[in-house]
Amino acid sequence: MEVSRARIAGVNSRIKVVRTGLTASAALPGSPPDQRAASELALDRIILGDCLAELQRLPSQSVDLVFADPPYNLQLEGALTRPDHSHVDAVDDDWDKFDSFAEYDAFTRAWLAECRRVLKPDGALWVIGSYHNVFRVGAILQDLGYWILNDIVWRKANPMPNFRGRRFTNAHETLIWATPTRSKRYTFHYEALKGGNDDLQMRSDWFIPLCTGDERLKDAGGRKVHPTQKPEALLARVLLSSSNPGDVVLDPFLGSGTSAAVAKKLGRRFIGIERDPVYARAAQQRVDAAAPVDPQAFAAAPAKRSEPRVAFLSLIEAGLIAPGEMLEDERRRHKALVRADGTLQLGPAVGSIHKIGALSQGLPSCNGWTYWMIERNGQRLHIDALRGEYRQTHRAAA
Ligand SMILES: C[S@@+](CC[C@H](N)C(=O)[O-])C[C@H]1O[C@@H](n2cnc3c(N)ncnc32)[C@H](O)[C@@H]1O
Repeated sequence: MEVSRARIAGVNSRIKVVRTGLTASAALPGSPPDQRAASELALDRIILGDCLAELQRLPSQSVDLVFADPPYNLQLEGALTRPDHSHVDAVDDDWDKFDSFAEYDAFTRAWLAECRRVLKPDGALWVIGSYHNVFRVGAILQDLGYWILNDIVWRKANPMPNFRGRRFTNAHETLIWATPTRSKRYTFHYEALKGGNDDLQMRSDWFIPLCTGDERLKDAGGRKVHPTQKPEALLARVLLSSSNPGDVVLDPFLGSGTSAAVAKKLGRRFIGIERDPVYARAAQQRVDAAAPVDPQAFAAAPAKRSEPRVAFLSLIEAGLIAPGEMLEDERRRHKALVRADGTLQLGPAVGSIHKIGALSQGLPSCNGWTYWMIERNGQRLHIDALRGEYRQTHRAAA
């Protein structure tokens, strides 16, 4: 597994790779982990080195999100060819080879334990893997005390066929999303994801194409720079769903730098560790070329649940709705009278906007804010829009 020292020493000096950005005192050999100060974390850098050694130099509880795309331990049996006998460019690199499952497990346990130490208690771990390794990784991270929130199936739009026709086409990879402890305070931008998904909850199966075309890094000879470069869309979804602008993203297996480039584009800070100098250099060039998106475009939208609660009565008190007005459902099947005390009346029944909304449909519950409509300037709008207006006025006044 070791890349020879001569290879590392021969790294091009132009490359802006830093061995460590920590001060001498923070990185003193033998310092116990709890004495490494979080304030001394150097950010937005690619570290050339072995992640097991380099992770140990990072301060405890200093990172918001770890994205790890570790060796898969693919266990390939001989060269793979297409029906026309052409060679399939499979992952057969040294960095992916382990002598036994026991060796792979020990390696996995070591880096996962270090990541758990450097993660903030409310931080998040994402690991991507295939059937070759993801079950081992999942069991080990649970044994270490991580708490799994979801597993995501990344369904590939354009997977490689099964050339031998002996198994199903391997068309997905799995991402595990976990917290280092059983915390409820992890970041999840539920509303934003739903908004970007035609107002449907974002599901745990993501349909995203493989990294191809201009996004795929190629060398001067037109060969892929890295065999397992992940699509930026996949990383963007990970970062947008479970981190905030300014958060620190750590990738212990940086490869071609996908996570770092996306972090930079989306206003996150990053630390990447990569053992191979060729990949590290390519990653640095890629990060240097990545242009940050306008911060307005990724500023976190306020989650609905974190918005201040507004009572329907407050809208009446603020003059946005008058007692005696009528509310209707979208299809104009039910009309309810707005009463001065903030309740609605439908026939003999009186109750909250939610209760009367539910009653009118014969349902156990209803969100009255998105059910009832009112007319304003010849247009019909949901009363939720008036709630938004109320919130805006009161935020501005605060
Ligand atoms: C699956 S690839 C990551 C690909 C990356 N996500 C991308 O989009 O390009 C794994 C990377 O980890 C690196 N690697 C393997 N073992 C390592 C170790 N012990 N420390 C640091 N890097 C390592 C390999 O050189 C390889 O580039």
